[in-house]
Amino acid sequence: MEQFETIFASAAEEAAKAETSRALYEVRMQYLGRTGSVTALLKGMREIPAEERPAYGKKINDLRERLEKMFDGRDAEVKERELSARLREEAVDVTMPGRKCEEGTLHPVTRVRNELIDIFSGMGFEVFEGPEIENDYYNFTALNTPADHPARDMQDTFYLTDEFLLRTQTSAGQIRLMEKKKPPIKMLSPGRVFRSDDDATHSPMFHQMEGLVVDRGITLCDLRGMLDEFARTMFSATSKTRLRPSYFPFTEPSVEVDVSCHLCGGKGCSLCKGTGWIEVLGAGIVNRHVLENCGIDPDEYSGFAFGMGIERIAMLKYGINNIKLLTENDVRFLKQFRD
Ligand code: DAH
Repeated sequence: MEQFETIFASAAEEAAKAETSRALYEVRMQYLGRTGSVTALLKGMREIPAEERPAYGKKINDLRERLEKMFDGRDAEVKERELSARLREEAVDVTMPGRKCEEGTLHPVTRVRNELIDIFSGMGFEVFEGPEIENDYYNFTALNTPADHPARDMQDTFYLTDEFLLRTQTSAGQIRLMEKKKPPIKMLSPGRVFRSDDDATHSPMFHQMEGLVVDRGITLCDLRGMLDEFARTMFSATSKTRLRPSYFPFTEPSVEVDVSCHLCGGKGCSLCKGTGWIEVLGAGIVNRHVLENCGIDPDEYSGFAFGMGIERIAMLKYGINNIKLLTENDVRFLKQFRD
């Protein structure tokens, strides 16, 4: 009996010391496992005289039951402590600052492109997009710029083969559209263009927006009216435009369009180089050869066209001094265009 009590006491002591359910399980096995001390007692039964065996066996069973109860009790305690520790560890602190997920913004070129589309689609223009790899015919010849025409020198072209090139101007879209659609036409053609040109205001890849209107009785006055509306919406409510004579093979007459400087209001500043005016686009009355090339009778119809650089408009509008900022993808720069 004394030996049984010692076993129980030492088991209880060790169980109390076991802090984890794993450690407790090991203690339990030392007593109740296959090679544990209680099992050893049962094996020793053989040496007990036969008449004492039943009483002895019962005592061992009592001891085992007490031990089991004791271990179960301790196990419940340990598990509860483990659970609350885990809950404490895994608790979500709702007062902690969250992980920041930065919101993106539209690129300034995309913004200006969308704004241009908004302005001109409000006047009834439809968007038409041509291919970036263009045929020499659409980019030059059909635009009244045949091979060996000196005006081909105005644009440094990336030729892919004798026949194919990276389009240098969205004007190519005029021809593609007029081959398919007859007047009345009001087309807007945005897209990437490519030229072998590289400095603070020129990049080998940039974007243009082309406009074309063809109908009966279209004159330079119609162009002027639309450009005024464009300048007022894009730059400032008091913006004015002026036309200067220029040359493009696909328009006659051709003009360069200036907008009054939105920064100084026309008084003269560093942006407009003291002139009060900023050049924003090229335009003109569609040359009759271009209409003829597309099967449109120039005696019945006339039209105007214009083309502008989207990067240039964005740089003017937002005061950006280097075109490279638009392609560097520096988040510190792009962040400034948040609404
Ligand atoms: N394609 C010309 C350029 O890239 C811009 C231009 C000028 C387009 C006059 C036109 C136009 O449609 O009429 O420099």
